Amino acid sequence: MATYVIIGADRGIAHALCLQLCERGENVIAACLGDSPTLAAKGARVETGVDVTSDSAVHALAQRLIGTHVDVLIHVAGIYLDDGLEALPMADIQRQIEVNALGPLRVVHALQSCLDHGAKIGIVTSRMGSISDNTSGRLYGYRMSKAAANMLGASLAQDLKERGIAVALLHPGMVNTQLVPNLPEHVRSQLIEPEEAARGLLARMDALTLETTGKFWHANGEVLPW
Ligand SMILES: NC(=O)c1ccc[n+]([C@@H]2O[C@H](COP(=O)([O-])OP(=O)(O)OC[C@H]3O[C@@H](n4cnc5c(N)ncnc54)[C@H](OP(=O)(O)O)[C@@H]3O)[C@@H](O)[C@H]2O)c1
Repeated sequence: MATYVIIGADRGIAHALCLQLCERGENVIAACLGDSPTLAAKGARVETGVDVTSDSAVHALAQRLIGTHVDVLIHVAGIYLDDGLEALPMADIQRQIEVNALGPLRVVHALQSCLDHGAKIGIVTSRMGSISDNTSGRLYGYRMSKAAANMLGASLAQDLKERGIAVALLHPGMVNTQLVPNLPEHVRSQLIEPEEAARGLLARMDALTLETTGKFWHANGEVLPW
């Protein structure tokens, strides 16, 4: 039984990850913004009030985890806000950088003392953060924040390799969650369900080694371009 910390577990992909890990019999620590009685009922240890934009909230989580040996840390929390050149909502853009890019940096930095040789870190970014895959523009805040998260993971992979800790950057696929709430039905019906995304992400984390550290993976196993 390995110990997993999943960040952003209130709903969506992270919630599905926690449920599958509980099914597998792993020791699951579900870090939520709010509460999750559903995950607690499945045997997860639910840590509430974990706002990844807050130094004090993330520090408080780290304090509660002192002495816990974490095998796998997966940062999933993220937000998506639409924008384009016609109206550039700077506050929204800054918010996405806070959650999507600085959030995982803050969390990994605070929890690093729980990670020993052999531990793994996954950061869910997005294909929208790939520079070479950008053929449709727009979404300045989301794309920039996810590109920054990819760079964060690339540096972590370098810095943590000598400590025996492997890092994966992860794209979950296009998933039917409330990340983008007002999708038209014909688009939503094309999406995969969070359970399928979670299965793929867990397969990537299971397969992750120091030899494959620092790569950007689609949940389906494809290596994505930066
Ligand atoms: N869905 C997709 O197609 C897709 C594609 C590519 C990448 N992704 C990435 O996958 C990740 C999960 O997305 P999802 O589709 O599962 O979306 P979701 O259903 O909206 O879930 C997002 C999760 O992040 C949490 N969260 C938001 N702000 C937070 C904060 N400041 N501190 C801590 N937790 C916070 C949310 O908590 P609350 O519920 O309490 O707000 C929620 O649990 C995101 O990083 C997203 O960018 C998703």
